[in-house]
Amino acid sequence: MRGKFVTFEGCEGVGKSTQLRLVKEDLARAGVDAVFTREPGGTAIAEKIRSLILDPDNVGMDAVTELLLYAAARRQHTMELIEPALAAGKTVFCDRYIDSTFAYQGFARGLDLDVVHALETIAMGDVQIDLTIFLDVDPSVGFARKGGADPNDRLERENAAFFQKVYEGFRRAAAENERIVAVSAPGTKYDTHETIMRLLRERGIV
Ligand code: TMP
Repeated sequence: MRGKFVTFEGCEGVGKSTQLRLVKEDLARAGVDAVFTREPGGTAIAEKIRSLILDPDNVGMDAVTELLLYAAARRQHTMELIEPALAAGKTVFCDRYIDSTFAYQGFARGLDLDVVHALETIAMGDVQIDLTIFLDVDPSVGFARKGGADPNDRLERENAAFFQKVYEGFRRAAAENERIVAVSAPGTKYDTHETIMRLLRERGIV
């Protein structure tokens, strides 16, 4: 049987990586064979593309070039790691995937959504997402939690208005798509983790 594919989405500093680590620890304790990966990146080639995209020296990067690089990294990651893992029956958890492209390049940068969609279709091949968990936290809260923007990350040099648009993009996507479940995280990271595990069980993922 094919494995399930779960993606985690949200703005910077909202706790995606922490939540994925907590899920990973739970599944390891339960002996579940799952793959944890991230975008952009996840394989050697895609991690090289990630460095190119996020390098703060690349301030002159054209928005469409950026979109194409995210799509190229995703195609490589999907074909080399995600698709074979799903075909082998493993559950795959990915820190960011196509909804980040919609929110950042489509919604916040204002690129043509049809082009964004066409590139996602190419990058994903036959892969389908079973569930997307959107950590619904305002970016101002996220940046405060992580102690401000990382100067070594080109994307994090964007202004607050850009990240508000990203957030709005995610919220719209969640409102329009049943695949995406918004999880607000008002309590501790352990409360949020409980909510996420409950959701994963309800959806038959774990
Ligand atoms: P990360 O900091 O969550 O690892 O992601 C790197 C940055 O890349 C983050 O600012 C979000 C951004 N991003 C996009 O703009 N488009 C995408 O498709 C993906 C996957 C990430």
